[in-house]
Amino acid sequence: MNRIEFNETGLLVTRMGLGLAALGRPGYINLGHAADLEREYDPASMESHAHRVLDAAWRLGIRYFDAARSYGRAEEFLSTWLKSRGIRPEEVTVGSKWGYIYTAGWQVQADKHEVKEHSLPVFQRQLSESRALLGPYLKLYQIHSATLDSGVLDNHAVLDGLAELRDEGIVVGLSLSGPRQSDTLRKALSIRIGGVPLFGSVQATWNLLAREATVTLREAHDLGVGVIIKEALANGRLTSRNDDPAFADKRHTLEQLAIEKGTTIDAIALAAVLAQPWVDIVLSGAAQVQHLESNIQALKAKWDDESDRRLAYLVEPAVEYWQARGRLDWN
Ligand SMILES: NC(=O)c1ccc[n+]([C@@H]2O[C@H](COP(=O)([O-])OP(=O)(O)OC[C@H]3O[C@@H](n4cnc5c(N)ncnc54)[C@H](OP(=O)(O)O)[C@@H]3O)[C@@H](O)[C@H]2O)c1
Repeated sequence: MNRIEFNETGLLVTRMGLGLAALGRPGYINLGHAADLEREYDPASMESHAHRVLDAAWRLGIRYFDAARSYGRAEEFLSTWLKSRGIRPEEVTVGSKWGYIYTAGWQVQADKHEVKEHSLPVFQRQLSESRALLGPYLKLYQIHSATLDSGVLDNHAVLDGLAELRDEGIVVGLSLSGPRQSDTLRKALSIRIGGVPLFGSVQATWNLLAREATVTLREAHDLGVGVIIKEALANGRLTSRNDDPAFADKRHTLEQLAIEKGTTIDAIALAAVLAQPWVDIVLSGAAQVQHLESNIQALKAKWDDESDRRLAYLVEPAVEYWQARGRLDWN
């Protein structure tokens, strides 16, 4: 996989990146998470497992890695991997996020897995924690799940802190969540500090079931903002793991198309994302090497207008999509 410009950010990335949400902690909402980790939860086993998946990603050419303070020990595992493999900072781009605090205490089930706080003290503390672990590898720092309600886009102290970071040469981004991703992104795009836009990148949910943010993401891309797509497989709902009877007909359509194209349904779903001209990076959230290898087939899978027409009916109204996501169990 060739490295490409991350739109106008000045960073080099690859079209597919690896997200570490499922690799840094025992519990996550993705379908089948428990089975992926073979129920081996001691930190040393989880670190070796994360390193195996990272090695596979490197071998497959992936050079963008996505972490967050709240993904348990994801930043730590990434840091030990980068150093132990002798990877130089100029060979790779790492993005991380601040704004959620990991509170699960290394348990699969917890009252609260993460707590959101978009305040200045949390920004300052988490930035220094991320920097201590990732140092020169950290080139993109994102607000984790910014929403209009979280108030972060009106918090001038935080925005000024982010502008300072941007002026030090770290690209400042935000990730989005919920049925109003577009409204949040529009507001973010309007924020300028020191005469220049604050946000250089956005990470959003877009997939065959959830296309609500298309127009705004295209606008962001046209302005030079780097666009990263997360949850491209709808947390596993667009994989062969989805055995929900209510999805059976849609799954059958996906399977038919995958057979015709000689590939897998996850590769089809990822190819649909890669085909959008306004997408820079799509994240794989695979926690197993075998799934990552299947996901990467998307780079070769052919996506055309006919595929688009046949799968257009998979789309769900945004509110319904986010309600279904809200029902996924931590496992
Ligand atoms: N608010 C935010 O900022 C935010 C929110 C969510 C995610 N993210 C980022 O986006 C990344 C990706 O998102 P995601 O993991 O939530 O979503 P995703 O890519 O939509 O879904 C990943 C799930 O699909 C499964 N899968 C993939 N290929 C498969 C295959 N061939 N067969 C069966 N199952 C397969 C994975 O299983 P295995 O785990 O078994 O491989 C995993 O359970 C995260 O790691 C994180 O970096 C950010």
